[in-house]
Amino acid sequence: MPRIPPTARKGLLTLHLVTSLGWLGTDLVLLTLGIAVQRGADPAAVYPVTALVGTVLFAPLSVLVWLIGVASALLTPWGLLRYRWVLVKLVLTTVMVGLVLFLLTPNLRHAGALGAALPTRDRADLVIAPAVSTILMIIATVLSTYKPWGRRPAARPTTRASRDRATSTP
Ligand code: HEM
Repeated sequence: MPRIPPTARKGLLTLHLVTSLGWLGTDLVLLTLGIAVQRGADPAAVYPVTALVGTVLFAPLSVLVWLIGVASALLTPWGLLRYRWVLVKLVLTTVMVGLVLFLLTPNLRHAGALGAALPTRDRADLVIAPAVSTILMIIATVLSTYKPWGRRPAARPTTRASRDRATSTP
């Protein structure tokens, strides 16, 4: 994969931070709205807003986060499969994007359409889903800043010179 010049890399990282942390912020908004209904707010007023935020902001952002995250890995010396922290983030984000697009977004649309008629069981899902994804995104953020576990064995270089290079941060 081609590597990009430092200025372009900073631009890509900025884009990655804005989208991924924007995704986390939107998730917190969905969690707040879900909890508000549990605490007595009017579901007929709240769920249409939840559906709007979910479909117009959260779902498209999830796809953007995945695309820009993958680009941030492929276009920098980190690589997509070379470091465990990048690989774990890739798996986490891929699972989450699937859940957001195929499970959460249809559920949010359903809740927006039903409003106060949404059964209690389904109301709990609108708290549990954003709570779980918020935790997963905080894990992704911590992995990104601490970058634990080093390189994967298969990706570890074999020559002495490349071994020396691998001990430094890309
Ligand atoms: C497909 C999924 C993802 C991949 C492949 C990925 C990959 C990467 C890579 C390679 C970097 C380093 C970029 C550089 O040094 O120029 C990075 C940085 C970062 N990523 Fe991700 N990322 C993904 C998703 C996420 C998510 C979901 C979050 C948080 C919600 C996140 C938060 C961050 C943060 C905070 C940094 C900055 C770390 C630093 O500069 O010290 N990423 N990511």
